[in-house]
Amino acid sequence: MKILLLGKNGQLGWELQRSLSVIGDVVALDRHNGGDLGNREALLAAVQAVSPQVIVNAAAYTAVDKAESDADTARAINAQAPALLAIEAQRLGALLVHYSTDYVFDGSGSHARAEDAAIAPLSVYGSTKAEGEDAIRASGCQHLILRTSWVYAARGGNFAKTMLRLAKEREQLKVIVDQVGAPTGADLLADLSAHMVRATRANPALSGTYHAVAGGETSWHAYARFVIEFARARGIDIKVAADQILAIPTSDYPTPATRPLNSRLATAKLQQRFGLTLPHWQRGVERMLEEILQGQS
Ligand SMILES: NC(=O)c1ccc[n+]([C@@H]2O[C@H](COP(=O)([O-])OP(=O)(O)OC[C@H]3O[C@@H](n4cnc5c(N)ncnc54)[C@H](OP(=O)(O)O)[C@@H]3O)[C@@H](O)[C@H]2O)c1
Repeated sequence: MKILLLGKNGQLGWELQRSLSVIGDVVALDRHNGGDLGNREALLAAVQAVSPQVIVNAAAYTAVDKAESDADTARAINAQAPALLAIEAQRLGALLVHYSTDYVFDGSGSHARAEDAAIAPLSVYGSTKAEGEDAIRASGCQHLILRTSWVYAARGGNFAKTMLRLAKEREQLKVIVDQVGAPTGADLLADLSAHMVRATRANPALSGTYHAVAGGETSWHAYARFVIEFARARGIDIKVAADQILAIPTSDYPTPATRPLNSRLATAKLQQRFGLTLPHWQRGVERMLEEILQGQS
């Protein structure tokens, strides 16, 4: 099975290079070697040259705040390029795997949303991701759209690393408490993707939109406390006292893009249809912390 992977160096793209390599021959591209989602001709040429059975699109315009003032570029990458990939997938009879976000929802209420809940994005990023999803579904191609949230990876920067650094430097931290979601490892998403590709190739009726997040839920504040107390228990020199990790509302931390407060995504559809289990978010975060704290105490 020939797999074209786009966005190979992002958090998710990096992990997909690993997980997809056991189910097929992977041609992995980034914007510098023929996989620029902003260049329609080059993208088309790349897809036609590879002629894959599966296209996995891990590339996206993910600068959520910058998108507010750069809507045309965000739309080209998050909506128009996926639309082009969908048309090509349909023409080739290929499966298109694409990733979307909790930001397609408005985050009202406190319930976990299912895949068919009404979308109502609050930001340019969320709107362009929703447009990308719609274009893929409208194309009629076989697809897996995986909506996820709060993605982290051990490689590169992430929220946990930032909190650890600040906790070593400062006596007090202020972290948002009224946004709730599930931190989801890029490694978990990549593993799920590989399983789901295999299953959907064997049974095209599995084609569709799915919520793919780790189990459980937390706020950014509780997530920060979890990370910091884990490090303290491992003997890391932490400056901030536990009661000085203060909870603040989103309104105290204004950003150009409005974020949904309730990012809870219901995952029963994915778990039932694919027979997969989504582990609690703390398991993946603990594993990442073990990795980054090694040799630090
Ligand atoms: N991160 C999250 O918390 C989160 C939450 C929900 C959903 N998602 C979705 O999950 C998917 C993967 O996200 P991620 O966390 O892996 O994001 P990421 O680490 O920001 O990676 C995005 C990748 O897209 C590439 N890219 C941007 N513009 C491009 C272009 N014009 N042509 C080719 N590549 C381009 C970037 O390359 P450069 O480095 O060269 O710019 C980067 O490698 C995305 O669809 C995202 O919308 C992410």
